[in-house]
Amino acid sequence: MGTYSLIYPRRILFGCGTISELPKLLENRRKVLLITGKSARGNGLQNRLLNMLPEPGIAPLCGIVADEAPIESVDHIVSAGRATGADAVLAVGGGSVIDAAKAAAAIIPGGGMTADYFHGSAKIAGKGLFFVAAPTTAGTGSEVTANAVLSDKKSMTKKSIRGEYLIPDIAIVDPELTFSCPASLAADSGMDAIVQAVESLVSPESNAPSRSLALKAAGLLVSHLERAVAGDRSAKIAVAEGSLLSGMSFSQTGLGAVHGLAHPIGIKYGIPHGRACGILMRSVFRMNLAKIPGLYDEAAKACGFRDSTEFLDALDRLCDATGIPANFADFGLRREDFPFILKNCRSRSMERNPCSFSDGEIEEMLEKGCGMHDTGYAVQRRPVLGCPTE
Ligand SMILES: [Fe+2]
Repeated sequence: MGTYSLIYPRRILFGCGTISELPKLLENRRKVLLITGKSARGNGLQNRLLNMLPEPGIAPLCGIVADEAPIESVDHIVSAGRATGADAVLAVGGGSVIDAAKAAAAIIPGGGMTADYFHGSAKIAGKGLFFVAAPTTAGTGSEVTANAVLSDKKSMTKKSIRGEYLIPDIAIVDPELTFSCPASLAADSGMDAIVQAVESLVSPESNAPSRSLALKAAGLLVSHLERAVAGDRSAKIAVAEGSLLSGMSFSQTGLGAVHGLAHPIGIKYGIPHGRACGILMRSVFRMNLAKIPGLYDEAAKACGFRDSTEFLDALDRLCDATGIPANFADFGLRREDFPFILKNCRSRSMERNPCSFSDGEIEEMLEKGCGMHDTGYAVQRRPVLGCPTE
């Protein structure tokens, strides 16, 4: 029996309609800065939220956070928060919106700008503004985590700023907010949640609570994601809960090699985070299993499968059924980019993978398992995308 110390938002609400609790949750706030995704204005969500904010409220920042939460988007929120004297930040959106707003809520009173924290010359040293997060996608778990994943276009890097003070004060996971999520985004996000649950389960940092959460999350996600992507609302509710539990698990343990590799590959080729995770999962989980036989047996049983092999085969079928590509061929993965990927994948996530990989093993996996079977294959079938923020 090990020791563990768990840390979460002071309140986590789950269930359909829980977003209507906002007026009560914000009643002691004077000026709430509202950050939403691009679709919130068109689908009426922004107005609905504004009606729940305390008077006088603050004009919302809708759609100002670009994909992958670039530091410029965070700076935009920081400047608005300081100029308006906000005393709280409410983020309602996908992972990038929540991560950008989360970082800004901490930086606004902390001083400096985002690059200072991203590049390490400043640290989040104290409590930020009161911060409430409500996801509109089911997958990232950012509403309960102590980190914000940000990107920098200039250095082509994507990494977390982290610390206890980044944990949201309140997380509201209202599955109804995910009902209008497009199918491809639902598939990407759900695949992210599955990878997070499984990586947390086999993490060397796992503990009894994190394993319980990860097993329940994996069961919910694997059995409901396909129907959720097809639009089934009861399945979307199950996936939203699976995503929350996945976040509550990995926020205590860290992740693994899929996430270590997904960040440099995602930013290099402009691939959505969850899709990169889904593609990498097929190869990385098999490499892990080759080194640690039976590694995923517990996850397999929680999802109704006999053993690790059957489980990984089922994940392959789930990827196929939800439109996750089998490899990176269509994204233009190139051998000449391997040094960039290798240099930038040795993150905290990679350190927490249950086994280690040499550079040569990663190169071999990228070539054989990710769509580069022969020299030149997949090169430039599509122009290499720049930073997704462009
Ligand atoms: Fe992730």
